[in-house]
Amino acid sequence: MAGDEFDLSGRVALITGGSRGIGRAVALALARRGAIVAVASRKLADCASVAAEIRTSGGRASAHACHIGEPAAIEAMVAAVEGQHGRLDILVNNAATNPYYGPALDMDLASWQKTLDVNLRGYFWASVQAARCMLRQGKGAIVNVASVNAFRPMDGQTCYSLTKAAIVNMTQGLAREWARHGIRVNALAPGIVETRFAAALHQDPNHRALVEQLVPLRRIAQPEEMAGAVVYLVSDAASYTTGSCLTADGGWLA
Ligand SMILES: NC(=O)c1ccc[n+]([C@@H]2O[C@H](COP(=O)([O-])OP(=O)(O)OC[C@H]3O[C@@H](n4cnc5c(N)ncnc54)[C@H](OP(=O)(O)O)[C@@H]3O)[C@@H](O)[C@H]2O)c1
Repeated sequence: MAGDEFDLSGRVALITGGSRGIGRAVALALARRGAIVAVASRKLADCASVAAEIRTSGGRASAHACHIGEPAAIEAMVAAVEGQHGRLDILVNNAATNPYYGPALDMDLASWQKTLDVNLRGYFWASVQAARCMLRQGKGAIVNVASVNAFRPMDGQTCYSLTKAAIVNMTQGLAREWARHGIRVNALAPGIVETRFAAALHQDPNHRALVEQLVPLRRIAQPEEMAGAVVYLVSDAASYTTGSCLTADGGWLA
């Protein structure tokens, strides 16, 4: 392999949930490697500010409003990205939700449905739409942001955790199915990362200290610490890697 196998120059990358947290860190990292980045989330203004940040640093980026729980919105988002940039090489399925935290016995079915619609159907449908573009190109890479909860559900998060376990399984299934088309599909399982999503675990200093004691590295992660794993998985450095799930969890699952 000649040259820089992490170089993503000219590749078009779509990141769902790219407006903040892990998604934003991934968007900025892919742009630093030369990718043209399409940033998507429900709030267009927040995506536009990440896209502007990328452009200010000399990169190319666009912003897209898309609710991942709505299949028609996913179709429109992928069509807009392909229409605007002419291709789609990388999809990072990252936007997820966790509307209910508590005992399964008390869970309402509306929260159950929302969790499955966004975390599972959303990842699947975005993968299918993106793969249709990648098929025409004969090459592509998808990363599904799962969670350590896929392997060890945290208390009060049964429904969220089972969607993440299903995402790991879906990653393997799609990797097998699309390998012959040159499309690699991998997953990332973050541990606890300091974002709005995980605020309940880190906002209160006392609770944070307890959580950090459970992590072998004795701290929770910053969003930027997830980005290198995604850069690796979508780049040619991982050309023989498909169907895998990489953990970045400070040793949580060890
Ligand atoms: N933080 C952790 O400790 C942790 C651990 C393991 C796994 N993860 C996973 O990492 C991923 C990113 O989480 P994060 O911690 O970075 O969360 P975050 O900081 O809260 O960011 C979530 C992103 O997703 C977008 N989003 C939320 N619901 C959406 C929807 N229905 N449709 C489209 N976009 C939506 C948000 O923007 P809008 O509000 O504009 O839509 C935002 O851009 C998720 O898949 C999560 O399960 C996180």
